[in-house]
Amino acid sequence: MTTVLGIETSCDETGVAVYDSQRGLLSEALFSQIALHAEHGGVVPELASRDHVRRLAGLVDEALASAGVEQTDCIAYTAGPGLIGALMVGASFATGLATAWGRPVIPIHHMEGHLLAPLMTGEAPDFPFVALLVSGGHTLLVQVEGIGRYRLLGQTRDDAVGEAFDKTAKLLQLDYPGGPAVARLAEQGDPARFRLPRPMLDKPGLDFSFSGLKTAVYLLAQDHPESPADIARAFEEAVVETLATKCQRALAQAGCADLLIAGGVAANTRLRQALAALPGVRLHTPPLALCTDNGAMIAHAGALRLADAIEQPTRMLARPRWPL
Ligand code: KG4
Ligand code: ZN
Repeated sequence: MTTVLGIETSCDETGVAVYDSQRGLLSEALFSQIALHAEHGGVVPELASRDHVRRLAGLVDEALASAGVEQTDCIAYTAGPGLIGALMVGASFATGLATAWGRPVIPIHHMEGHLLAPLMTGEAPDFPFVALLVSGGHTLLVQVEGIGRYRLLGQTRDDAVGEAFDKTAKLLQLDYPGGPAVARLAEQGDPARFRLPRPMLDKPGLDFSFSGLKTAVYLLAQDHPESPADIARAFEEAVVETLATKCQRALAQAGCADLLIAGGVAANTRLRQALAALPGVRLHTPPLALCTDNGAMIAHAGALRLADAIEQPTRMLARPRWPL
């Protein structure tokens, strides 16, 4: 039995959790900076770092207390990718605490945290499976052979899908974070009114491109400022169809029926419905709270990666860019 403290500070959520390799998740504490960044229409990196500094110690105390432990056997932290200042807050806190406790650290890749999160709830299939990882910074299709055995099948060549949601929200003058706001507005939209391009669907391969779609939304919004709901719906339809088609191709290529989705955009209802409706596909989705950033997924990934624990860490690891 091993207990892991998980620390997530890569973007705008300060997440802390205690995970036990046998008993599962013992506790979780999360502070979302949404209100802090909302008035700026997006995440302000410097404000994010400062707020992680303000919240982290209190959240660690809270998570340890509700797990009923004073220390854990090791400390996992998000080492990247993400905002460098924000990452450094979590990395330095984790490294300092590990030194004080005389415990090892486990640096975790943020997207691996997302990818493995569904395993926590028994929602995940057996290996191998295909994973669609869709967040504010990443759009990845991955063939998952086992823990740490990931083969990249496709990725975005420009904007991430979450970023496209956030930019569309801005163009439609919706609040940050954009994804849920666009999805809510799209519910009132007419799907037949406008048709936006499905980027790269006519090309072979499993890469994505969403920056052209953003430009198409911009032009449509200029021509039809009176119809934001129809535009939001057209945008969501285009994104969902693009993702669903590429997932189907990825599953065919991998010879696999199991598809797992994770990351913030995996919370999108229309995306879940479209993927679940793909013929012959078994869809695995994490609960909504595990889609967006949280400490539990980092503590859990740490528990699956105990072999990578670094005893007596002499330096902290913070990598803004880091391939999976
Ligand atoms: O995984 P996440 O919390 O943070 C990153 O690692 O980036 O993902 C955040 C992204 C944001 O772009 C947000 O707009 C998007 O996920 N998002 C959604 C929904 N909920 C969050 N996008 C579409 N529909 C949603 N319901
Ligand atoms: Zn994330």
